[in-house]
Amino acid sequence: MSDLTLALDIYGTLVNPLEMDEHLREFAGSDAPAASALWRQKQLEYTFRRGLMRSYTDFGTVTAQALEFASKAHGLDLDKEQMATLISEYQNLRAFPDVKPGLEALGAAGIRLVAFSNGVQATTRKLLENAGVMEYLDDVVSVDDVKTFKPAPEVYGHLCRTLNQPSAEIRLVSSNPFDVIGAKSFGLQTAWLQRNPEVPFDPWGITPDLIASDLLDLAGHLTEHPNP
Ligand code: LAC
Repeated sequence: MSDLTLALDIYGTLVNPLEMDEHLREFAGSDAPAASALWRQKQLEYTFRRGLMRSYTDFGTVTAQALEFASKAHGLDLDKEQMATLISEYQNLRAFPDVKPGLEALGAAGIRLVAFSNGVQATTRKLLENAGVMEYLDDVVSVDDVKTFKPAPEVYGHLCRTLNQPSAEIRLVSSNPFDVIGAKSFGLQTAWLQRNPEVPFDPWGITPDLIASDLLDLAGHLTEHPNP
């Protein structure tokens, strides 16, 4: 068994929230990808703002409020039931195709795998079960326990305490640059999954320790060079 634990971000890393455009299409037509992107953008913005304001509410509420904003901004006339249906579809996001084989390869190399998310435990577990991914993971760690969001240092501290491991033995894996920068600033190892080659990394002078195109690529890197 390796001493390394990978803490895997969920939204954008294991599953794709922009896939919600498929469900928005009946209301937004060709505007659906833009509405879906605004939904995700507002969801993250609300987490950042709530973190700064120290005004925590759970990620499910944040996601619903972001949907309400995006639907109004795009002039969609969604009623409560339609909103609830969209929110429940958010639990059915599919895993990216590399996720299951990637996790399988990483697990076979003796690397401990946990999910680490802004999402609350129950919602996150259900999402990962629905996506067929939970069986590859040892545990789920949620920021909900410390009532703030990524990239607040408290959430990375909570991750280390929960795993009972020093930060240098934990590698945060995320497609979200803000998560990678937050984790690295706290002292964790990091890997950025650059799922979209056209999206640059934030030029803050803090760089990921490893860049991989997806989880299979990451597994290749880590199983050839398993030490963090
Ligand atoms: C998460 C968000 C940040 O899963 O994508 O934590």
